[in-house]
Amino acid sequence: QINEAEVVAFSVPSYACQRRIALDHHNTVLADALSLLAENAELSDEDGRGVAFRRAAAVLKALPRQVTSMAQLKGLPCLGGHSLRVIKDVLDNGASDEVESTKRSERYKALKVLTGIFGVGAKTAARWISEGIHTLQQLQASGHTLNRAQQAGLEHYDDLNQPVTKAEADAIGEIVEKAVVSVLPGAQVTLTGGFRRGKLAGHDVDFLITHPEEGREEGLMPKVVSWLVKQGFLLYQKTTRNSYLESKDGPAQPPSNIDRFERCFSIFKLEKQATKQAEMPEDSCSFGAHRQVEGDDTCLQTDPQSCSLSPIQTGGLCRRASSEEGQLEETEPAGHKPWRAVRVDLVVSPVSQFAFALLGWTGSKLFERELRRWAGYEKAMSLSSHALYDNNQGRYLRAASEEEIFAHLGLEYIPPSERNA
Ligand code: GTP
Ligand code: MN
Ligand code: MN
Repeated sequence: QINEAEVVAFSVPSYACQRRIALDHHNTVLADALSLLAENAELSDEDGRGVAFRRAAAVLKALPRQVTSMAQLKGLPCLGGHSLRVIKDVLDNGASDEVESTKRSERYKALKVLTGIFGVGAKTAARWISEGIHTLQQLQASGHTLNRAQQAGLEHYDDLNQPVTKAEADAIGEIVEKAVVSVLPGAQVTLTGGFRRGKLAGHDVDFLITHPEEGREEGLMPKVVSWLVKQGFLLYQKTTRNSYLESKDGPAQPPSNIDRFERCFSIFKLEKQATKQAEMPEDSCSFGAHRQVEGDDTCLQTDPQSCSLSPIQTGGLCRRASSEEGQLEETEPAGHKPWRAVRVDLVVSPVSQFAFALLGWTGSKLFERELRRWAGYEKAMSLSSHALYDNNQGRYLRAASEEEIFAHLGLEYIPPSERNA
């Protein structure tokens, strides 16, 4: 019997970028429950609700011990009424009805299946669902015209919904490195995204490319891409300018007449022998069931029945089901080919912006969002993956390292492995 008056409430700073959040923490069950509701909100194109649940989950991830009573949560930031109800449900009953019924809902399952196609976002999936399309077979039968990305996404569906291992990320890293130094000696490649934060699996592999001499990186992306194409490493690629959020809350980009193709979404063809015995992390579902859940490597499905995948992807069998019987079998139909498809993001940055790009592409997504929110609300600064602008001083603040950016922002430095908000 806990005497509520004696319970010591936890204390956590308001912004996720003020907290150290390692991959392992003490409240996975609660954080997973809230993350699933966040994911469902995002899949339903309700980003505001999504962020609220992500923030609540990130508070729980930062706690020094497991939560055992509601009284411990008193005064914590970012825990709204809805999140508190979910937490109470889990504490009282071991699970949240809302979470469980969401997992089972046809809409959620269909959204997962359809947005599991590379190139398909929440809006497209919702439109298809409104036409009665819930599975890949129904999509194929519908005769919808798919764009190039979606076609590639459908073609490599199983591969792209299987988590990328660290070993595979390293194998891809060697290829990217070779491509980059072949077309521009002295250029440097840095692993970013979830793998830089220490994750053992991810939905893609992210790289940042620069050259120590400013300007030498110009025009690099098209050259890297064409080298990779010639060598047969790319199944799909689309190079674009990086305009992510900059228009919204970042400073105006310096005017430039050279169109900078600095970002490339791609699908690599990775030979299986190029990977040193890449193994699936134990206990993780082989599917993309969790791929939208930030910083979370555990499968959301607690029982195979609730696997959201259609039989076409699984051959009628959830891999989780077979692994729970102690046997892990290759069930994907594509298992015979000697290669697999892997999503890879490449970004080129001039060295003067490198620290900003590195910080911006390391994530997690919530950590990034919170950094920008902190910059704007607390410091009257605009942070992007290109620059930091001080609105009071009316000038850009330079930085050669992530540490300097944190210092400009008046924040304690948080290393990548503790940015898993
Ligand atoms: P997994 O890939 O799912 O393992 O996790 P991840 O954290 O690596 O996610 P993801 O690859 O989606 O993104 C990595 C980082 O890049 C995150 O911090 C994102 O906020 C950031 N990011 C993603 N897309 C863009 C973009 O278009 N522009 C910029 N500047 N950043 C982006
Ligand atoms: Mn990534
Ligand atoms: Mn990415």
